[in-house]
Amino acid sequence: MYNAKAYSVASATSPFTSSTIARREPTEHDVQIEILFCGVCHSDLHQARNEWSGVMPTVYPCVPGHEIVGRVAKVGSAVTKFKPGDLAAVGCLVDSDGTCPECQAGLEQFCANSTLTYNFPDKHLGGVTYGGYSDSIVVTERFALRVPESLDLAAAAPLLCAGITTYSPLRHWGVTKGKKAGIVGLGGLGHMGVKFAHALGAHTVVFTTSESKREDALRLGADEVVLSKNADEMAKHAGSFDFILDAVSADHDINAYIALLRRDGNLTIVGAPEKPLPVSAFSLIFGRRSLSGSPIGGLAETQEMLDFCGRHNITSDVEVIPIQKVKEAYERLLKSDVKYRFSIDMASLKSE
Ligand SMILES: NC(=O)c1ccc[n+]([C@@H]2O[C@H](COP(=O)([O-])OP(=O)(O)OC[C@H]3O[C@@H](n4cnc5c(N)ncnc54)[C@H](OP(=O)(O)O)[C@@H]3O)[C@@H](O)[C@H]2O)c1
Ligand SMILES: [Zn+2]
Ligand SMILES: [Zn+2]
Repeated sequence: MYNAKAYSVASATSPFTSSTIARREPTEHDVQIEILFCGVCHSDLHQARNEWSGVMPTVYPCVPGHEIVGRVAKVGSAVTKFKPGDLAAVGCLVDSDGTCPECQAGLEQFCANSTLTYNFPDKHLGGVTYGGYSDSIVVTERFALRVPESLDLAAAAPLLCAGITTYSPLRHWGVTKGKKAGIVGLGGLGHMGVKFAHALGAHTVVFTTSESKREDALRLGADEVVLSKNADEMAKHAGSFDFILDAVSADHDINAYIALLRRDGNLTIVGAPEKPLPVSAFSLIFGRRSLSGSPIGGLAETQEMLDFCGRHNITSDVEVIPIQKVKEAYERLLKSDVKYRFSIDMASLKSE
């Protein structure tokens, strides 16, 4: 074991403080990564504040962060994919059994024995896993991803959650040229969804509650932008979408979006609001529409997404912050005031 620096919260209402956490010494299949940047996902906020207490109660102290990019510092003797000095990334998963049908299919996100990057039982050290608001992390090499050298690292970090969480359902539901795709909520996930839907060739429509984001949505790749509070603007799109991705973090009316799907259209929820969302049976029945959810993505698809980003020069639009500003960043996230992802420069942790 060795000590790593981290930023943690001690309770749902405590502020973040600088602390020391235990990390394991890399075993033969592990890589130790010096973290350079970590994105701030709204899930970090939900978890730090125990907003998912019914499904995934938070164990304190909690160190969030699952959009991790860094450099390999050490490798175990059996590691073949990485050597010290290589770029490496870690997303929302740090382990899985590797043997179940889901893992065999490359869908580790559905493995019953997977380990999330934070707030999940740590099989090596006991207690829970600690995430990327830290100066280093140790993961088995299977869960470390390659980052295309051409990408800006601060802006690449959010690909590890916001990127894969939007890329995976867009691919799964066949969003491509000739399809009409909607993205609801222009936040960290939503803005990546727009970039991907556009790059995949779909006619892309953004739904936002923020009038001030209209121009940005067009710049990010949207063909049209709808202010969702405006009923007339919404009505113009009734029954027309093949696919809608809902990336909203708070309570909202999803029936208004289901009504915009065409026959056999699908709405996939990736946003994870604290409270259940009521669904009208009729909005699904008429038009044989379907409603789905989607969690992150498997390792192979995450690597595919990173490589796709390398080829298309896609990264997140980031505001780089020192870790000391994470509290302020959370407050701004709650006001939908980020363009469009905070990325923590981990060099700022050195001064703590
Ligand atoms: N499924 C998964 O695997 C997965 C992975 C990562 C994150 N998530 C979840 O996805 C959600 C979004 O995460 P994020 O990091 O992208 O969050 P974010 O950056 O805070 O973006 C959320 C966006 O939702 C919209 N919004 C916020 N409050 C709203 C309200 N009251 N009514 C309508 N729209 C509202 C805003 O967009 P506009 O200003 O454009 O309206 C906001 O920018 C979170 O719940 C997060 O936990 C799920
Ligand atoms: Zn996330
Ligand atoms: Zn498995």
